[in-house]
Amino acid sequence: MVSSLEHLLTDYVDSYVLHGPASGHGWTDADSEVWAAMVKERDTGRTRFLGVSNVTLRHLEQMIASHPESPAFVQNRCFARLGWDREVRLFCAERKIVYQGFSLLTANPEVLHHPGIKDLAARANVTPAQIIFSFARSIGILPLTGTSDPEHMKQDLASLNLHLPAETVRVIESLAG
Ligand SMILES: NC(=O)c1ccc[n+]([C@@H]2O[C@H](COP(=O)([O-])OP(=O)(O)OC[C@H]3O[C@@H](n4cnc5c(N)ncnc54)[C@H](OP(=O)(O)O)[C@@H]3O)[C@@H](O)[C@H]2O)c1
Repeated sequence: MVSSLEHLLTDYVDSYVLHGPASGHGWTDADSEVWAAMVKERDTGRTRFLGVSNVTLRHLEQMIASHPESPAFVQNRCFARLGWDREVRLFCAERKIVYQGFSLLTANPEVLHHPGIKDLAARANVTPAQIIFSFARSIGILPLTGTSDPEHMKQDLASLNLHLPAETVRVIESLAG
């Protein structure tokens, strides 16, 4: 936190996210200790929201059973072949936790380069990346982009105006998982 505030030249950050639990097998006492420290940071006003990242459904279930407060964000890598992290997304949707998806492009080359996606993009005069970001929003994902290219960033933001028909969303969802 101290380092982020220094580097960002600010006295608070919008969101503070636990990069990942200590064990892949479940939520541990060490994670609870870290989360309690993060809650203190939020209570002192140094962050507005708290989140957790790289979590499984098991992590989340155990975390929520151990703490009175749910995270505002869950931030996970989203693989199409795992139903775009379906189990965790549904868990979040039921609890009004915002699900942030990352590596939407890099984790899913089979979708990004799928002839059907290319065709859809050409017909809508957008890029395959824009189709994926729009699709992600349609299934309840807040898409994170990893671009460092200003033109790609403009395209990613412009995809907010792209709305896919429900049938198209269903087809994309079933392409890989
Ligand atoms: N919580 C975690 O553990 C974790 C881990 C990894 C990443 N993240 C976060 O997740 C976000 C996404 O990360 P990512 O790098 O895995 O994501 P990504 O958006 O799947 O991939 C970005 C890569 O795709 C390329 N690309 C081509 N066209 C693009 C377009 N229109 N829009 C975006 N990218 C395009 C980018 O190149 P150009 O730069 O040339 O556009 C870049 O090489 C980042 O904010 C990152 O900090 C979080």
